[in-house]
Amino acid sequence: MTNWKNVNAIYQIYPRSFQDENGDGVGDLAGITARLPYIKGEQNSLGIDAIWISPIFMSPMADFGYDVSNYTAIDPLFGTLQDFDKLIHEANSRDILVMLDFVPNHSSDQHYWFQQALSSKQNRYRNYYHFRDPAADGGPPNNWLSVFGGSAWELDEASGQYYLHSFLKEQPDLNWENPVVQEEMANVLRFWLKRGVKGFRFDAVRWMAKDIDYRDDPLNPEFDPSGDPYHALIHQYSRYGDRLDFYLKSLTNAVDEYENSIVIFEDYHDSRLPRDEQIDRFYAIDGDSSFPINLEPIHFEWTPRDFATNIARYQRGLAAESEMIMAVGNHDSSRIVARHGVEKAKLIALIQLTLSGVPIVYYGDEIGMDDGHIALEDVRDPFELNVPGLGLGRDPQRTPMQWSDEYNAGFSAAGKTWLPVSDTKRDVNVESQLDDETSFFGLYKRLLSFRSSHCALRAGSYDPLLVGKGIYFYVVSDDQDKFGVVANFSDEVQSILINEDYGVLLSVQRSSTQEGNKLVLPPYEGVIIRYL
Ligand code: GLC
Repeated sequence: MTNWKNVNAIYQIYPRSFQDENGDGVGDLAGITARLPYIKGEQNSLGIDAIWISPIFMSPMADFGYDVSNYTAIDPLFGTLQDFDKLIHEANSRDILVMLDFVPNHSSDQHYWFQQALSSKQNRYRNYYHFRDPAADGGPPNNWLSVFGGSAWELDEASGQYYLHSFLKEQPDLNWENPVVQEEMANVLRFWLKRGVKGFRFDAVRWMAKDIDYRDDPLNPEFDPSGDPYHALIHQYSRYGDRLDFYLKSLTNAVDEYENSIVIFEDYHDSRLPRDEQIDRFYAIDGDSSFPINLEPIHFEWTPRDFATNIARYQRGLAAESEMIMAVGNHDSSRIVARHGVEKAKLIALIQLTLSGVPIVYYGDEIGMDDGHIALEDVRDPFELNVPGLGLGRDPQRTPMQWSDEYNAGFSAAGKTWLPVSDTKRDVNVESQLDDETSFFGLYKRLLSFRSSHCALRAGSYDPLLVGKGIYFYVVSDDQDKFGVVANFSDEVQSILINEDYGVLLSVQRSSTQEGNKLVLPPYEGVIIRYL
C-alpha cells in the first residue's frame, strides 16, 4: 500500500487542461479518472503514486478556481460530487493517493459569506473578511498592493468601507483572526478527508496573516519600474504576520485527525527574510506531516552549485520524519523546457527524481512540453490581462495536455479548447514517446520505477562529491544500496574518476562510456551508477 512515507512522487494535474470528457473544451474530473491508467497501474503507465489536483471547487473562475465560492462543492464545469467519489474510488483501486488544492487566504467574492458580509456592516459574516474605513483622504486604508496589480483594497460603495484582496478584487482575503473562520475552514478539510482525500497543498499561505494594525508597507529602494509593479513595496506588513503559524496549526491539526494525510505549503523565498529561518518556520508547524514546498528550483539557473546549495539548505536540520518536497515546475511558472532547453530539462529530471523526499512533477513536464504560444485574443490569465506585456501571464504553461498528434492532441473533441492546444503536439506527445526509452516519458518512467524500488533514492542520505565545472556528482545511500548520480551540465565531454568499482545502471542519453574507473560523459549526459 502506498503511503506518504514510501510515495515516489506527486503528479500535479491542472484539471482544466488534462482531459476533457464532456467535450466543452475544458478538462474535467471524468477526464482525470479516464486517464488514471496513464498515471499508474498498467504496463505503459508513468508509474506515479500520488496526484495533486489544482482547484475543482465551485468557482466563478476569475482566477480559474483559486477563487472559491463554495469550498465543499465541485464546480459543474468539472463534474459532480459523484464524479469526485468515482475518481477517489478508481484512484484507490490503483493505489494512487489524491491530494487537493486548498485556498485558505481568500474566497471568491461570490461566496455566500462575502455576499452576506456585503449586505450590512452588522452582518455576522462581515468579520469573516477585512473591512476597513478609508484613510483620511478617502482613499484606501493603507498602501498595500495586490499581487495581480493595483491597490489591494476595493471600495464597497454601499458601506463606504474598503475590503482587502491580496489577489484579484474577486478574491477577498479571509480574516484568520476570527476563530469562526478557523473552524469553518478546518471543517472544509475534514469534509474532503472523509471522502478519501489524503492531503492538501495549501495555497498562498504567507498572505493569511498580516499586521493587525494594517501599517503601510515600506517602499522598495531596489524597485525596477520596468518590472512587476507588485515589487514597488517591501511586503513587511501585508504578509507573514506573527500569527501565521498558529492559523496553519489550526488546520494541520484537523488533517492530523486522519491517518496517512499530509499538507504541503506553497511558500516562495521572500528576499527580506533569512532563507533558513523561513524554511524552519514551516517545518516547525507540524514537521512530521506538513512541509514547505521547495520552490527555489523553479527560479534558479540550475548550475550544479545552485542545486548543491539548495539541497544542502533543505537537508540541513531536517527532522527524521520530515520530507523535502521539491517542485521544478508548476502552473504559475514557465515550463522547464522553455526555461532550460530539452537537454538540461532531462538532467533536471534525473536529479529531481534521485534526491530524497517527495518530488512534484507538473503534468506535461514528463513529456517535455514547452510553453504554448498564446495570441493576444487567446489570453485568459487575469494576471496578464491586469498587468500586460511584462511576461507575467501564466497561460503558456497551462495549455492542454498533449496525448497524441490527433485532433486537439487527444485532449478534447470540442471545436475550441479553453486555451489553444500547442502546435508542438506533432513532435511532443505521449503516444509517440510511450515505447521510446530515451524520450522524456521513457526517462521519467525509468527514473520513477527505479525510485519506487530503491528506498535509498526516496529516503537515503545525500553526500555531494563534486560540484562545479559543469559537473554535479553525489551519492545517495542507505543500509541496502549505494548509488552515485553524475550529471554533466556542460557542453563538453567530461571524464570523472570513480574511486570504487561501479556499474552504470541508468543513463539519460545512453551515451556514457566506462573506461575502467573512468566514466566518460558526453555533453548533457547524466547517469546513475551502482557501487559494487
Ligand atoms: C497561488 C496559486 C496561483 C493563484 C494564487 C492566488 O500562487 O498557485 O495560481 O493565482 O495563489 O490564489
